[in-house]
Amino acid sequence: MDRNREFAGKVAFISGAGSGIGLATAELLASLGARVAIGDISTDAADRAAAKIAAMGGTALPLTVDVGDHAALARAVSRIEADFGGLDLAVNNAAIPGPRVPLEDYPIEAWKAVIDIDLTAVFYALRTELPAMKRRGGGSIVNIASIAGGLGIPLTGPYAAAKHGVVGLTRVAALENATANIRINAVGPGYVETPFVMERGEDIVRAYREKHPVKRMATTAEIAEQVAFLLSDRASFVTGAYHIIDGGYSAQ
Ligand SMILES: NC(=O)c1ccc[n+]([C@@H]2O[C@H](COP(=O)([O-])OP(=O)(O)OC[C@H]3O[C@@H](n4cnc5c(N)ncnc54)[C@H](O)[C@@H]3O)[C@@H](O)[C@H]2O)c1
Repeated sequence: MDRNREFAGKVAFISGAGSGIGLATAELLASLGARVAIGDISTDAADRAAAKIAAMGGTALPLTVDVGDHAALARAVSRIEADFGGLDLAVNNAAIPGPRVPLEDYPIEAWKAVIDIDLTAVFYALRTELPAMKRRGGGSIVNIASIAGGLGIPLTGPYAAAKHGVVGLTRVAALENATANIRINAVGPGYVETPFVMERGEDIVRAYREKHPVKRMATTAEIAEQVAFLLSDRASFVTGAYHIIDGGYSAQ
C-alpha cells in the first residue's frame, strides 16, 4: 500500500479543528488523501484551517458547529454526507479546559459548561457519527481524552471527570460496535503546545514542561500521528483502547 495516500477515498470529520491538535490532525489526514470536514465553533478558525489545507492541495469543508448542540452536530454530519458522500472517520477533539479551581470552590456553572462540552458533546458526536458510519458500512473514531482521563490532576475537577468519562464512553461504544466494522479508541495526550495551555503564562508552561520526564511538552504533530494510526487500517485490531502519549508523564 502507498502510505502517502493511506486515506484516499476516506471522509473525515474533526471537531475543534480550527486550532491545535485538531488542526494538526486535519492537516495530516488531508496530506494522506482524506477529504476533511473542519468543525469549529469559530467560523474564522474553521475557514482559516480549510484555506490552509486547500493551499496544501487538500480538500477541506469548513463547518461552524458548536459540539454542545446536538442538532448542530447532526446538521454538520448531514452536510458532510451530502457534500462528500458519507463519513468514514471522526475525531472528537473539541474541548474547553475550564478554570483551575479547587473542587470545594468550583463554580457550578463552569462545572456544567466543562461537562457539557468535554463529555456530553462526545456522546452527542457518537450518537450522530455511528449511524452515518453504519450507512457507509464501517468506520473509525478517535476521541481525544487526556492523561487526565486516567489520572487525577489537582484543580481540574470537571475536566478530569469529563476525560475519565470519555475513556468510559469510548469503551462502551467500542463494545457496542465491535461487530459493526467500527473501531472506537481514545488517546490521552500529556501537555501539548497549543493555545489550550500556552495561554496560562510562562511560569505554568515551564512547570508543565518539567513535569514530563522528557522535559518538554508534545507537539501537535506528535499527537496527530497517533490519531492517524488509530484511524487507519494499520490499527485494524485496536478498539476500545486508551492510548497514552505523554513523554513518560504517567509512568512516574
Ligand atoms: N493542549 C494540551 O495540553 C492537551 C492535553 C491533553 C488533551 N488535550 C485535548 O486535546 C483536544 C484539543 O485541544 P487543543 O489543545 O488542541 O485546544 P485548542 O484550544 O488549540 O483548540 C480547541 C479548538 O476547539 C474549538 N472549540 C472549543 N469549543 C468548541 C465547541 N463547543 N464546539 C466546537 N469547537 C469548539 C476552539 O475554537 C478551538 O479551535 C481537547 O480535547 C483537549 O482536552 C489537550
